[in-house]
Amino acid sequence: MMATDRRIYLLVQLMITQGICLLAQGLRAPVIKPFNFAGQLSEGLRTGVMCMVTDGDPPFNFEWSKDGRPLNTVHKGVSIQKMNDFTSFLTIEKLDADSNGNYTCRVSNTQGHDHKSDTLSMRGLKAPKIKPFHFSDDLEMGLRSVVVCAVMDGDPPFNFEWSKDGRPLATDHKGVTIRKMDDFTSFLTIEKLDADSNGNYTCRVSNSQGYDHKSDTLSMRGLKTPKIKPFHFSGELGEGMRTGVMCMVLEGDPPLNFEWSKDGRPLNTDHKDISIRKIDEFTSILNIEKLDADSNGNYTCRVSNAQGYDHKSDTLSMRGLKAPKIKPFHFSDDLEEGLRTAVMCVVAGALRGPKIKPFHFSDDLEEGLRTAVTCVVQGGDPPFDFEWSKDEEEMMSNERRCFLQLLLFLGFCLLSYGEYCT
Ligand SMILES: *[C@@H]1O[C@H](CO)[C@@H](O)[C@H](O)[C@H]1NC(C)=O
Ligand SMILES: *[C@@H]1O[C@H](CO)[C@@H](O)[C@H](O)[C@H]1NC(C)=O
Ligand SMILES: *[C@@H]1O[C@H](CO)[C@@H](O)[C@H](O)[C@H]1NC(C)=O
Repeated sequence: MMATDRRIYLLVQLMITQGICLLAQGLRAPVIKPFNFAGQLSEGLRTGVMCMVTDGDPPFNFEWSKDGRPLNTVHKGVSIQKMNDFTSFLTIEKLDADSNGNYTCRVSNTQGHDHKSDTLSMRGLKAPKIKPFHFSDDLEMGLRSVVVCAVMDGDPPFNFEWSKDGRPLATDHKGVTIRKMDDFTSFLTIEKLDADSNGNYTCRVSNSQGYDHKSDTLSMRGLKTPKIKPFHFSGELGEGMRTGVMCMVLEGDPPLNFEWSKDGRPLNTDHKDISIRKIDEFTSILNIEKLDADSNGNYTCRVSNAQGYDHKSDTLSMRGLKAPKIKPFHFSDDLEEGLRTAVMCVVAGALRGPKIKPFHFSDDLEEGLRTAVTCVVQGGDPPFDFEWSKDEEEMMSNERRCFLQLLLFLGFCLLSYGEYCT
């Protein structure tokens, strides 16, 4: 091409482009009239909707889609016809379960686009019902296992979902394949059973009307029963302290189920100070953030699998919060009618030993004077036995020595008056 020719060519092209642009600026984007699938919709009937542009300038491009996927005339029983520049018809020749869905018409021109949708939902569609499935009883390591999830009743299309112990199972899951045979049947195959294969398998099938699910537990023979390592709350525990124990499975095949209980009742993990954490498949940790009087008790960890269970327990017993122990009491042997008697019920475990106030003889004693010292118990729990001795020999006396006792206890001033006489 010559240089002048090329210039002229470019000029013409520029003019054409500008002309189109000028033209385009006057165009208005399309606006579609809403449509809906009205009237009787049941299997075998025909229906149709019209997508009509009420405003905007042609040329328009019409696109139909169903549930987000492009719809075209290749679809069984569906026809799309353009009536004129402004109108497109969608016709469904014969309604069936597959017809249900969200239909969208999208219209665009160079200036913009609009879309409208309506959901076709046929009455009389049934929700799926699945046949229960079962793994065989005599499964062993290394074998292959297949179960079938079959819909007995309900209208397609169905959505099949497999899960194991509540987690979705995908085809790429190690050694597991999921195959859809037809609209109504899905196969789950486990190529080679191992300890990990054990678990609760669920097939869930849904359609636009509802869902159904069935489960079965795969439990292989030859599995080992769990054995738990004994655990202990460490010795010195006091109020406000933190403690924890670990429940560890030494032997046994997963899946393992851990249960913690206290004094035979399931442990309340809603309690803000108690937490249970599973570290891995074989270990669970119980933590008590802040010990209080309620923390004392017999804690049990129970671990089970399909084969059996084991449990271990330990008793948490905080300092100063031991169970009560009562000291034996006896009525004297020489009781007679008319006499008065009494016995004392004393909690031995709570007894604190006596504390005596130091006493001193005065410095200025001389022969012939009289003197006395007082033995005062300042702390501790009665009853007390008093013994006086001199030069390490016990002193006997008929005199009754009495004392007052003042107990200062836990920040309360508890004045306990009593005469304790030897
Ligand atoms: C139908 O599809 C359209 C376009 O994808 C969407 O905007 C609309 O929310 C859908 N309607 C329903 C009921 O799902
Ligand atoms: C198995 O899982 C299903 C669905 O989550 C549940 O309903 C069922 O109780 C489970 N079966 C067992 C034995 O845990
Ligand atoms: C603790 O509980 C377990 C399980 O209930 C029981 O076997 C064990 O004897 C209890 N231990 C004590 C000390 O009560």
